[in-house]
Amino acid sequence: MQTHRDQPDPQNGPRHDAVEVILTKRDRGSLSTSQIDWMVDAYTRGVVADEQMSSLLMAILLNGMDRREIGDWTGAMIASGVRMDFSALSRPTADKHSTGGVGDKITLPLAPLVAACGVAVPQLSGRGLGHTGGTLDKLESISGWRALLSNEEMLAQLESVGAVVCAAGEGLAPADRKLYALRDVTGTVEAIPLIASSIMSKKIAEGTGALVLDVKVGSGAFMKDVDRARELAEVMVALGVDAGVRTVALLTDMETPLGFTAGNAVEVAESVEVLAGGGPADVVELTVALAREMLAGAGREDVDPAERLADGSAMDVWRAMISAQGGDPDAALPVAREQHVVTAEADGVLTRLDALSVGIAAWRLGAGRERKEDPVQAGAGVVWHVRPGDRVRAGEPLFTLHTDTPERFERALAVLEGGYEVAAPGTSYTSQPLVIDRVG
Ligand code: URA
Repeated sequence: MQTHRDQPDPQNGPRHDAVEVILTKRDRGSLSTSQIDWMVDAYTRGVVADEQMSSLLMAILLNGMDRREIGDWTGAMIASGVRMDFSALSRPTADKHSTGGVGDKITLPLAPLVAACGVAVPQLSGRGLGHTGGTLDKLESISGWRALLSNEEMLAQLESVGAVVCAAGEGLAPADRKLYALRDVTGTVEAIPLIASSIMSKKIAEGTGALVLDVKVGSGAFMKDVDRARELAEVMVALGVDAGVRTVALLTDMETPLGFTAGNAVEVAESVEVLAGGGPADVVELTVALAREMLAGAGREDVDPAERLADGSAMDVWRAMISAQGGDPDAALPVAREQHVVTAEADGVLTRLDALSVGIAAWRLGAGRERKEDPVQAGAGVVWHVRPGDRVRAGEPLFTLHTDTPERFERALAVLEGGYEVAAPGTSYTSQPLVIDRVG
């Protein structure tokens, strides 16, 4: 293990010492720009050891960072890799990032919708880990569709189609990839400075002109309460604005999952319904709200996204976007081999549908993965037939569980059991707003 206690480096400026940096944060000090640059770079190159970075991450989680430190940490992560440049495109760019939720398929209708309004959408996405789904896993349920594109392919598709959803290349903020894996196994994921810098380093390096953050709040989200979600949103918006990216955030509800589906192919099917002018009201509402923000950020608030959804132009872009990446937009989507239906025991009103329970059930059915190298089942997931506020009748289906491996039903049912409530007939239900607040 190297700690680099001494010698200044004539090529790379002042050298620091991992222990000195850890002690500064342990003792509630503020890390200097030079300490941060050195530590992030040395860790990315393998000079600072995992146990030293773990210790610093825990000190950051416990003692926090001020805005200057968070900006420097973000800058150091951006500097660890390449930056993309979309300035040669003939239209402005806008992107959206969600902090992750259950049934959150919004990127699927949103990217083609915004492109249909004249703004290019370079959406670098990830795969699901844990109970929240991944956009790439969902799209890979479409026959032939591929997530890996070269930079040249991505630029060409942005110019010709206007929207790309693909995997982020290895070169984008490599420090974040290493740090995120370490945070995952050291109990240091939930620190606002670390979440904000992780998300924003990738989005700033991606090179989008405008960015809309969908910060989820509730049981199915990272941020369980609105005050912490607002703090995260404020930090991320400030990082974006300081980097010259027009950034706003919406705080949106994730106490209840979005739409009626959580999984992969089931979410693609629901997104296609939205693009066809139908689909669940909450998915349509959020898609249009985020589209309006993206268009405003790109200077195109004159275009009405609701119209482009209704007139079929968003669907045309979807079909072109899927085809350009080798997918067949007309191919039948995979269906799981086995289904299990949960029915209502009595008449009543559904008063609660817990996002976290639904997300874990979908994950246990095979829609998500436990380790990043695990495969996912394209057809697996949960479909719910009622939403909070709906009346139910005894014997009516509440949920349909889908999987290729029926031995998974038992554990999925166990978590779902505590995840919903049917109250006596006539019980009143007051719905919560989907968009809770706006920051920026
Ligand atoms: N998503 C990220 O990319 N990073 C985090 O730290 C949390 C969510």
